[in-house]
Amino acid sequence: MFDLKEYLQKKRSIINNALQSIVYRKVSDTRLKSSVSYSLFGQGKRLRPILCIASYNAVSSDDHRAVLPIACALECVHTYSLIHDDLPALDDDALRRGNPTCHVQFDEATAILTGDALLTLAFEIVSDESMGASSAQDLRNYLQVIKILSEAAGCRGMIEGQARDLAFEGVKLNEQELQQMHDLKTGAMIRACVQSGAILGNAQNAEFENLTLYAAKIGLAFQVTDDILNVTGDPERLGKNTGTDAIRGKNTYPGLLGLENAMTYAQSLIGQALRALKNFDDRAKPLRAIAGYIIERSR
Ligand code: IPE
Ligand code: IPE
Ligand code: MG
Ligand code: MG
Repeated sequence: MFDLKEYLQKKRSIINNALQSIVYRKVSDTRLKSSVSYSLFGQGKRLRPILCIASYNAVSSDDHRAVLPIACALECVHTYSLIHDDLPALDDDALRRGNPTCHVQFDEATAILTGDALLTLAFEIVSDESMGASSAQDLRNYLQVIKILSEAAGCRGMIEGQARDLAFEGVKLNEQELQQMHDLKTGAMIRACVQSGAILGNAQNAEFENLTLYAAKIGLAFQVTDDILNVTGDPERLGKNTGTDAIRGKNTYPGLLGLENAMTYAQSLIGQALRALKNFDDRAKPLRAIAGYIIERSR
């Protein structure tokens, strides 16, 4: 039997060590080093870098070495997005990853700069890897990762989603509009993680398409579950405050469909994600197990 808990723990530890080494090498300013470390090394699940590695492993039999720096870059972009998401001008949240948010612990200027630092650091990491590419194919792969990541993080991806999330506070979206917003603000980055792993593992076209479909389904299910946990979760376990979406008038799945229907919907998305993997062999076991974890998690 595949032990997901053990798999996630092992991967988290590998990713945390690699991130430690990146911060040690790349960030020199003492205050920035401390705010970057503070934000990166709270109780994050590392879901995005793990998805990148698991996707790579689903199509390639090599170990994680080639993909690890890219997985770390993806976590840097994600962590930046959390720091900025929590700022007073955005969601104004005080708790993240079990600790006071970056702007509360330090100050607003430091939080803005810490986010900026992590976003740019991600592209520095990917370009470092590109410079060391050992073949023309590898170089093309890294360029494609840069394209995928910049589009997903940017103004036709996460930022567009975040802009809509804020613009529609207090304005009721219909189901299609809500899905589009969630696909952008959360789905785009999750898709980029799975796609980057697939690209670096030299996935065939059909494999890439099916992994993309898998990612789209789990990405949406992930944000539906985030919405549900904002209603039902335990702040202590979650590491962030609950009830905040309703207070801010956010558009969420429980808000639109009710809790029960939102849970059923998330389950159906996971079923669709698993069907997208039907042609994959046992190397996709981690991806299959992660799909279930996305909706069963309590943090
Ligand atoms: C939270 O992401 C933000 C969303 C996009 C919903 P995670 O729940 O993956 O946060 P960490 O990385 O584990 O802290
Ligand atoms: C976060 O969405 C999306 C991004 C950080 C891009 P939410 O605002 O719903 O996530 P949490 O609940 O604060 O983690
Ligand atoms: Mg938000
Ligand atoms: Mg938020």
